[in-house]
Amino acid sequence: MNGGRLLVFEGIDGSGKSTQLRLLDEHLRARGVETVVTHEPTDGVWGRRIRAMARSGERVAPDEELRWFVEDRREHVASVLRPALGAGRLVLCDRYFLSTVAYQGVRGFDPQRLLEEAETEFPLPDLALLFEVDAAAGLARVAARGGAAEPVFEENAYLARVAAVFASLDRPYLARVAANAPIEAVHRAVLAIVRQRIGIA
Ligand code: TYD
Repeated sequence: MNGGRLLVFEGIDGSGKSTQLRLLDEHLRARGVETVVTHEPTDGVWGRRIRAMARSGERVAPDEELRWFVEDRREHVASVLRPALGAGRLVLCDRYFLSTVAYQGVRGFDPQRLLEEAETEFPLPDLALLFEVDAAAGLARVAARGGAAEPVFEENAYLARVAAVFASLDRPYLARVAANAPIEAVHRAVLAIVRQRIGIA
């Protein structure tokens, strides 16, 4: 099925992953590599429901929250990821199932179990770039760009625990990027990893 390549960008809020996705995309496009850029939560019905909940500051029950993210991903995989990969495209995706493992993993679900379920159901990434900053640095960046738009997911103690689950993950497709460094230095690190693992850039 997978003639294409799936690169996912993971990390806590304020880790800089979205900026790095954009920089990699610009780099690739300047070299004539066409990409498909996408993100989770999506802009579909489940994604909109998730964002409305996050902005409201009123959290739903953990099993409900988990279900929304999984339903959002099911729709995203079926309508965007599988068709793009099947067509041989290079997909850059801002957040994917490791976010569920880390964020919903600290809401009472066993992260290992969430990971196994996701890997059974969804296409595996060819590369998951994990941008690592400590929670305080992530929150400082979130504050600098205008504050916590989604207080539900961006509280300090919660993010520190999310970062700890990310830190505990170990998968062959996972590559860690020290994301405390200046944007340009992180970008160069991303390029080196993508060259080495995917053979492009
Ligand atoms: P985020 O990437 O910050 O989206 P945007 O910048 O477009 O608002 O994602 C929103 C929040 O959703 C973020 O705090 C992490 C959380 N999240 C989960 O808890 N589980 C998941 O599976 C995903 C994809 C995101």
